[in-house]
Amino acid sequence: MATILRKTEKIQDTKAVKEFLNKNGIVYESFPAPSALDSILGQKSLNDSEKEELLRGLEYRFDDLKKQFGYIARDLVVLHNEIPGIQDVLAKFDKLHIHTDEEVRYIVDGSGVFGFIVNGEKFEVHVAKGDFISIPENTNHWFTLDDAFRIKAVRYFKDNTGWTPVYVDESKVLVHS
Ligand SMILES: [Fe+2]
Repeated sequence: MATILRKTEKIQDTKAVKEFLNKNGIVYESFPAPSALDSILGQKSLNDSEKEELLRGLEYRFDDLKKQFGYIARDLVVLHNEIPGIQDVLAKFDKLHIHTDEEVRYIVDGSGVFGFIVNGEKFEVHVAKGDFISIPENTNHWFTLDDAFRIKAVRYFKDNTGWTPVYVDESKVLVHS
């Protein structure tokens, strides 16, 4: 369940989270992961065949999302403290950036933090298992892990050519109140 931290308030109610994000152009849904996948999701690290098994178990969701949004591909990201070069991976995405394609994530285990600056306001969306979020192209955002330092997320793509961070100068987009 996602929580939004604004300067002035904390939003936890699912309907209110969805409304706030939608108002800012961000798609948010909550999809419980099937309990049949609990044992594989409970593992910190997954080998390639376990990743495939997990994606197969979530194929029904991909089929639905293909119809709804037109995605053509998906893969699985597994991040935790024992991943080689994890700090370098995180360093690419923890600074304000945009992409020229949408960034779509379905969190199936663990948690993390998406930060945004939209319409001059900076806010954080703390995501956890079951959260689905789609960040439109050219939306200022960053991502980092939280203290639990563990996440599994399915990425969905319409096109993987636009998926490189383009860094943004925060002082140019943030409105200080
Ligand atoms: Fe990104």
